[in-house]
Amino acid sequence: MEKNDGSKKMLLSETVLPTPPEFLIKEISNFRELMLVYNSAIREVTTKLEILNDELSLNNRKNPIQFIKSRVKKPLSIVKKLQRLEKEISTKSVLNSLNDVAGIRVITAFIDDVYKIADMLVKQDDIFLIESKDYIKNPKSNGYRSYHMIIEIPVFFSEKKERVRVEIQIRTVAMDFWASLEHQLKYKKDLENTKNIEVELKECAETIAETDLKMMNIRNKIERK
Ligand code: GTP
Ligand code: MG
Repeated sequence: MEKNDGSKKMLLSETVLPTPPEFLIKEISNFRELMLVYNSAIREVTTKLEILNDELSLNNRKNPIQFIKSRVKKPLSIVKKLQRLEKEISTKSVLNSLNDVAGIRVITAFIDDVYKIADMLVKQDDIFLIESKDYIKNPKSNGYRSYHMIIEIPVFFSEKKERVRVEIQIRTVAMDFWASLEHQLKYKKDLENTKNIEVELKECAETIAETDLKMMNIRNKIERK
């Protein structure tokens, strides 16, 4: 197309951009592959959890798992965490140094379901338990309660098998309700009465823990009939 000044208008595709360095192209392609690996691991673990939920619903009560949420850590958060850990920024480093790129949250109705699900999952012979933290038996000082596991699961591709780590958080609906509100506090830097809010949240955490226990006891009484 001719412009008024007679010069030729350049299409974007014709503009000469510097070619990205070879290592960067390779690293981007590796990163995309890495995300595929983590997404696949999440799908595998989620399917396992859904099957356990279906089986438990068949034999016992309906749906010990209320819902499952999952996420893959965003590239920027991955880079920030590697920097914080003073690790190299590379895909290899992500696989070796980070446990929480793939994250799954399992929300149950009752406290005993948390342990049932955790037990059944780690009993499966393709799941390797790397670490577990029981913040239900040992709540954090702010009142946070949840059962955390880092597991490793093999993911099969056409030409390779990759062992992938997944962070699993299991907690009751009530604990999840609390954690969502408490999480918001972390991002509000300009609050004046943070201390009071922390105290109130801690009180709520205790009430919730008591109620969770009471609810389980009531359920047991109902089921005994
Ligand atoms: P990170 O490096 O921050 O992931 O923590 P960590 O390696 O010490 O593991 P931890 O098991 O303590 O926490 C893992 C995840 O649990 C966090 O990324 C949060 O999603 C959640 N979590 C832990 N502590 C709290 C808390 O006090 N409040 C809330 N809302 N979530 C928490
Ligand atoms: Mg984390």
